Amino acid sequence: GTITVLNGPNLNLLGTREPGLYGTATLADVEELCHRTAAGLGHRVEFHQTNHEGVLVDQVQAARGSAGVVVNAAGLTHTSVALRDALATVPGPVVEVHLTNVHAREPFRHTSYVSGVADAVIAGCGPDGYAYAVRHVAALCSSLCS
Ligand code: DQA
Repeated sequence: GTITVLNGPNLNLLGTREPGLYGTATLADVEELCHRTAAGLGHRVEFHQTNHEGVLVDQVQAARGSAGVVVNAAGLTHTSVALRDALATVPGPVVEVHLTNVHAREPFRHTSYVSGVADAVIAGCGPDGYAYAVRHVAALCSSLCS
């Protein structure tokens, strides 16, 4: 099936944005990793990034029919009830991913509105976290959505 991978604000700048924190891989590199990982498991990936909360909500709603959702909501993780409410309507597995270990950072990053509606949370693994997340969605939906 199709696994939807969604990315929130400022992740378009990955590779040049605070590279000491987020590394030098670009979002295109992350997308390529997701495609490769999904293909190896017999799935495909639809990959999106937006800087706009409402657009992210639209993208979650559009993904309700997909095999599952991987989401790095970036800054919206810590602020968006609307995003959480949208993710709560996704019937398939939802995996939250963060490049950095948000729990080792500023206190305002320790709260996630997404985690309560996610099946799993991956933080601090860098771009590899996306591959783990794709693998986990594929594992959770293996019997239902090949
Ligand atoms: C992030 C962590 C968030 O706190 C931050 O706002 C981001 C990126 C991560 O991938 O580590 O933009 O989601």
